[in-house]
Amino acid sequence: MKKSAVQPIRWRGDRLELLDQRFLPDKTVYVTCRTAEQVAKAIKEMVVRGAPAIGCAAAFGVVLGKGAKKAYEVLAKSRPTAAIYEEDLAANRAIGELGAQLIKERSRVMTHCNAGALATAGYGTALGVIRSAKGKKISVIANETRPYLQGARLTAWEMVQEKIPCTLITDNMAGHLMSRGEVDVVIVGADRIAANGDVANKIGTYALAVMAKRHGIPFYVAAPLSTFDPKIPDGSHIPIEERPADEVLGYRKTRWAPKGVKVRNPAFDVTPADLVTGIITEKGVVMHPTREQLQKLFT
Ligand code: MRU
Repeated sequence: MKKSAVQPIRWRGDRLELLDQRFLPDKTVYVTCRTAEQVAKAIKEMVVRGAPAIGCAAAFGVVLGKGAKKAYEVLAKSRPTAAIYEEDLAANRAIGELGAQLIKERSRVMTHCNAGALATAGYGTALGVIRSAKGKKISVIANETRPYLQGARLTAWEMVQEKIPCTLITDNMAGHLMSRGEVDVVIVGADRIAANGDVANKIGTYALAVMAKRHGIPFYVAAPLSTFDPKIPDGSHIPIEERPADEVLGYRKTRWAPKGVKVRNPAFDVTPADLVTGIITEKGVVMHPTREQLQKLFT
């Protein structure tokens, strides 16, 4: 199966090499992990991120831990929102092909965070759809994605590599562009999807879905079946990771907020199913998802 040029995860038989996404787009360096603990640390510190890529890395971590219960527990705790699973590159390709059929010629496609090659085994979910629709002369609007800047650093980088026209905006510009008719469709990934179709994804996704509804813009979620968690009845049961205050107080070595101020840093939010136009999976597109329709995907 052909991968994209970006290789976030390299398995070398006795060790795992992870592209250190903290330094992108400035540097392309790999972190080598030889133990399950090292993999867990890399996940926690966002060397590798994105639900499918975390799932892949964690699976290799279990192999490095020789399947020991302790290794599994350490990895399961490293970031709570992503379900641990092995990403299937073929699923990404299928999502890309099915999703591309929904995209009209010359569409201006808004995306949030990074659901690209870097977040998966190597093609992407939301960016997989965008890659597959490249021939339609589309352009991309990448939201910066505060506070960790996955959109500015990672999605913008992937789009530049792929030579897909891409405009970067800060998150608070999205509504303005929508109100001006400058966005034709929104496509995002998902970190986890509950049985009723509620979608947990990068913080800011919910606000985009609300605004897209207000402006009559289709809002699609691209996700493999492994992202669904049928045991979770609805989005209110999805654990939301709270990340360190430092990420909000500043960025890398620069701090702009005063010491002593209280900070909230939820990494994800939940978009209710009724704001989702369709979920694009490798088994088909579920329009206006409901619990009943989603159940059919698993039978
Ligand atoms: O905190 P991150 O960067 O791991 O968050 C990633 C996302 O929210 C992605 O949209 C999601 O995991 C899907 S990646 C195919």
